[in-house]
Amino acid sequence: DSVLLHQAARSLGDAHRVVVFTGAGISAESGVPTFRDDLTGLWARFDAAQLATPEAFHADPDLVWGWYEWRRARVRRATPNPGHRAITTIVDRAPAGTVVTQNVDDLHERAGTRAPIHLHGSLFAPRCVAAAGHPATFPDLPEGAVTELAEGGRIPPPRCVSCAALVRPGVVWFGEALPEAALTAAVEAAATCDVLLTVGTSGVVYPAAEVPRIAARAGATVIQVNPEPTPLDPVTAVNLRGTAAQVLPALVAAAWERTDGN
Ligand code: NAD
Ligand code: APR
Repeated sequence: DSVLLHQAARSLGDAHRVVVFTGAGISAESGVPTFRDDLTGLWARFDAAQLATPEAFHADPDLVWGWYEWRRARVRRATPNPGHRAITTIVDRAPAGTVVTQNVDDLHERAGTRAPIHLHGSLFAPRCVAAAGHPATFPDLPEGAVTELAEGGRIPPPRCVSCAALVRPGVVWFGEALPEAALTAAVEAAATCDVLLTVGTSGVVYPAAEVPRIAARAGATVIQVNPEPTPLDPVTAVNLRGTAAQVLPALVAAAWERTDGN
């Protein structure tokens, strides 16, 4: 409601250091399925918990690589939504703004957000399975080469150009630790911000889910945008029940329009 929106807008407009923490829900209105939403959740459809693991890749690299090619193709067809663009405006308007995302799509970047912190890696950063993990370079698949997983879109992963080992998706799988540098930067930003805006995350997967809790413990104002209740509700100061593409543009307008012009 508008009282809550203006309360959130005031905190955001007055903030010096803002962190925007996003999950799959920010990309839902771009047509990229979330992980745990009932009807559209990725896990429900493809039992992804089986696919997004080192064991699955070892057992059947072509199936797992095919699934990630299918996800990459879906993201390529998607476009950033007004929620992504509002986040770019927030980062540009706040004296200091940082985006921390659990998403592996590149929609924040394509909406003009510079250098978002990817806690779970990226679909567009495959790497070699060798310990060195040198970034893998290889040609993109020809258009149309990626078939829906339902048709068993098995695609053999490419070989690393440096050492001929298999190339793997550059995402963090179930059971794997998060990239150290990304997690450290995210925790540092959360511990020193005035406002943390959490959008489109169920807040159930650790250690990513620690980020908003660290901000709250450090005294930051936590604002949440999510159509559903989440376990982050108890640490949230202003809970905006709604979707990213609806709420975020209104929040930005209320936060910065009031100081412009009048
Ligand atoms: P997990 O339970 O295996 O834990 C992952 C890491 O978080 C481990 O290092 C664990 O020690 C640490 N951890 C667990 N609970 C914690 C807590 N309360 N506080 C601090 N650290 C904690 O996590 P998971 O569900 O198996 O998934 C591993 C990671 O992979 C998660 O971050 C998940 O989001 C990510 N993942 C990514 C994809 C993808 O396709 N992008 C798919 C599945 C999972
Ligand atoms: N606007 C805002 N929030 C939305 C929207 C929307 N249009 N649509 C759905 N949501 C909310 C849902 O209510 C839910 O709380 O987004 C959240 C999506 O939660 P998940 O599917 O669990 O996605 P996420 O929180 O990003 O999952 C965390 O777990 O599976 C791993 O690595 C994977 O990064 C993922 C992590």
